[in-house]
Amino acid sequence: MCGIFGYIGKRELKKTLLEGLKRLEYRGYDSAGIAIVNKDSIYLNKVAGKIDDLASKVNFNIPMYNTCGIAHTRWATHGAPTKRNAHPHVDCKGDIAIVHNGIIENYLELKVELLQKGHVFDSDTDSEVIAHLIEEYYAGDLEEAVRKAVQRLRGAYAICVISINEPDKMVAARNGSPLVVGLGDDESFAASDVTPMLRYTKRVIFIKDGEMVVIKRDSIALKTIEGEFVKPEIQQIDWDAAQAERGGYKYFMLKEIFEQPRVMKDTLYGRFSKDGNIEFPQLEDWKDYLRSLRRISIVACGTSYHAGLVSKYFIEEIAGIPVDVDVGSEYRYRYVLPDEESLVIAISQSGETADTLGSVRKINDKAKTLAISNVVGSTLERETDKVINVNAGPEIGVASTKAYTAQLMTMYLFGLYLAQLKDKIDIRDYSKELLKMNEYVEMILREDEKIKAIASKYNHYDNAMYIGRTYNYPSALEGALKLKEISYVNAIGYPAGELKHGPIALLNSNFPVVAINPNSRVYDKMLSNIQEIKARDAKVIALVTEGNDSLNSLCDDIIFIPNIKSVFSPIPIAVAEQLLAYYIADMRGIDVDKPRNLAKSVTVE
Ligand code: F6R
Repeated sequence: MCGIFGYIGKRELKKTLLEGLKRLEYRGYDSAGIAIVNKDSIYLNKVAGKIDDLASKVNFNIPMYNTCGIAHTRWATHGAPTKRNAHPHVDCKGDIAIVHNGIIENYLELKVELLQKGHVFDSDTDSEVIAHLIEEYYAGDLEEAVRKAVQRLRGAYAICVISINEPDKMVAARNGSPLVVGLGDDESFAASDVTPMLRYTKRVIFIKDGEMVVIKRDSIALKTIEGEFVKPEIQQIDWDAAQAERGGYKYFMLKEIFEQPRVMKDTLYGRFSKDGNIEFPQLEDWKDYLRSLRRISIVACGTSYHAGLVSKYFIEEIAGIPVDVDVGSEYRYRYVLPDEESLVIAISQSGETADTLGSVRKINDKAKTLAISNVVGSTLERETDKVINVNAGPEIGVASTKAYTAQLMTMYLFGLYLAQLKDKIDIRDYSKELLKMNEYVEMILREDEKIKAIASKYNHYDNAMYIGRTYNYPSALEGALKLKEISYVNAIGYPAGELKHGPIALLNSNFPVVAINPNSRVYDKMLSNIQEIKARDAKVIALVTEGNDSLNSLCDDIIFIPNIKSVFSPIPIAVAEQLLAYYIADMRGIDVDKPRNLAKSVTVE
């Protein structure tokens, strides 16, 4: 996720672009830049760092001769967060500048083609190919060149393009990443969302996938990328700026929960070859080592630790490699035996968690290390041998939601990759479900109102227990963590088989239980546990596979999850748990994005 902004009109350009960009900072903040159509060249200013760093480098005294410019705040996906990888990117001559949000899946093949034609690249990003493609097709008509270029792109994009040869316009296009155009008084805007334009205009057009738009200061022309005119639907926006940043959602957490279908797709980008095999280009030179791996140790904290636990079950089953999982604060102080035939995987959204970093540092070259992280360029990424980025985009809500499901998706892919290397299974049977995970997540999100109604029945309880078995034992831990951290309910997660070893003593009519029981080989075992709980008068909310109506009379409430392999059920189950926790916390009047005593990154022990 990145933020793009374009402006054409009467205002002082540098200031307008920087102010607009500041509103988009929540979308990414590892590097930033602006490009302005000047007298006879494009003025370009980029930095590795935040928008304030960029602002301190811009000389406001140099006058600009034109009225059109673009800006970008980056959240790195391809290429480290350095100045050369910061946007805007320009073509070989420096006549065309582009900003891009999204992931271009076929950028490598396009780059090879463009290199063969003599184009010179300046960055490691996927985005730069767009500038060179437009240059390649440019024959005096920017709109036509952009049209031809975007027709070659596979993947997700929202782009905004300017050219020194046509200083009176910006050309923008969208497929899969958000793009909004704002119509002001003799000025126009293009941006990832309405936040940078709200102070100037409330009249906006939400551009749809497959559309492109030529934006002038007093007019716009909206077309499909095939060139057919489209009648723009102008909307009046009444949100204030803070609401707009959250896309109209009450809290970032809810926005991030609803982003998960998109995240599921982004996490998959570039992971499958044309013949359906899983690819991790960064692990190419590790293939022999991974084939002969004898042990994997996963270290992580909190929600990321739960992603590690699910990974253990999956990798052991699918790739036949023993996996142990530790919380960072234990691993770093216990006696461990890393060696050359083992791999240490550190999972961390932020890449800055002190105990996870401490664990990796302890390895000190005794074993190879792999980071599964969401923040490109984080300390963890710099201190591990290899990195797989989960591509969830910036997560702002303190409670981790989309980063967790992106971690799960990444670890499923990694497990399948190991199985593929060892020729263990035909991965297609598994990958076809992963490729549809966005749809399964959407199915849960459509249950939003039902889950909210369930939350309204249970929000006054001060205790809760989550139980599950095998793959959904970690889901029980994660459901309980989500609820306790944002609602302050004393929620505990247990492997269901442990109930009789103590925790069942807690249960009575004031102690609701969330029983996670999708179709699986432990379904009947879980059913017995549910019966034991009902015999103690406790209320049961059951998560079961759609089409299973047999628990309707036994349980108090049911949430259906899609009919998928039980190994993958932790993803839709996590989404249902997130919604339940969110609504309970909101109904208890808690500031969901800022629960007491918590910080987004735990950078101290
Ligand atoms: C819970 C949550 C935390 C983090 C934990 C690790 O919702 O967000 O438990 O998962 O602090 O953080 P990262 O993944 O950044 O290492």
